Amino acid sequence: MIRDQATTLRNELGTARFVVIASGKGGVGKSIVTLNTAVSLVNSGKKVLVIDMDVGFANLDVLAGINVKHSLKDFFNGFALEDVLERTKYGFWLLSGGNDANDIYAFQMGEKERFFSEFQILGSEMDYILIDMGAGYSKEMDSAYTIADDFVLVLTPEPTAIMDGYTFLKILSIKGLESRLFLMVNMANDLSEGRLLGKRFQEITSKFTSLQFEKSYSMLIDPRVKRSVREQKPFVLSYKHIQPTFGIMGITSAIMGEDVEVENSRKSAFTDKIKKFFKWGR
Ligand SMILES: Nc1ncnc2c1ncn2[C@@H]1O[C@H](COP(=O)(O)OP(=O)(O)OP(=O)(O)O)[C@@H](O)[C@H]1O
Ligand SMILES: [Mg+2]
Repeated sequence: MIRDQATTLRNELGTARFVVIASGKGGVGKSIVTLNTAVSLVNSGKKVLVIDMDVGFANLDVLAGINVKHSLKDFFNGFALEDVLERTKYGFWLLSGGNDANDIYAFQMGEKERFFSEFQILGSEMDYILIDMGAGYSKEMDSAYTIADDFVLVLTPEPTAIMDGYTFLKILSIKGLESRLFLMVNMANDLSEGRLLGKRFQEITSKFTSLQFEKSYSMLIDPRVKRSVREQKPFVLSYKHIQPTFGIMGITSAIMGEDVEVENSRKSAFTDKIKKFFKWGR
């Protein structure tokens, strides 16, 4: 196919939205939020790919009781993209980032072209691409932060998690984050604590950074969330009526509530985003 036609086709194909789930401090619930939001989006009829970019500590598969055999590294060692993706029993697709972020960026251009064309087709079949990040700011991940259509910051009422979350946001504001921004206050002791922290954090963010949250959501600390981890099953499926499930439903509908402006711009931007994500070109 000649180059122009290929470009046009790619732009027409690309429609998936990128949703990044991140935090300043570790262990605050990013992977739990990612997994349950992915399942919740699937339940709403959406096609979802989860990329586990918590490189070195990839554990989303363990949370979900999924046996992941391959990672992106295998792709660059010659596997087809469809062979390194796991179709999970919950209906979403999973791509493991592998053990070392540098692995992903260190490959030859020829392989990158092959990845680009295969990922393009895959991305065109997805509605959402959720990226589960490692804790804290990482320069390696700059590209991933900047391509996010939606950015979900997870924190808990612990002072360290609040401070680390704020520091992380401050860096992102200096970097010029342009995504829609949502806050998830996890492990709140009660709803008023969750709401109050959400409100204060939103106020401080708008006062001292260039960023502004669209909305804040809360998830209470609940033993059934821990139990779901032991059972290796998403709690939105096992415990449909607990408050954390409602918190996930909130963030899910926020993600699905796309504004028209984003809708129009996203098609042509998709190819650029994949390139940026993997730091190719520019
Ligand atoms: N709402 C909750 N109620 C009770 N326990 C919770 C809740 N949210 C998270 N946890 C507990 O916190 C643990 C850590 O969650 P998770 O693995 O999602 O964090 P993370 O931010 O992805 O961590 P890491 O930074 O290591 O990737 C879970 O295994 C679970 O036991
Ligand atoms: Mg995690």
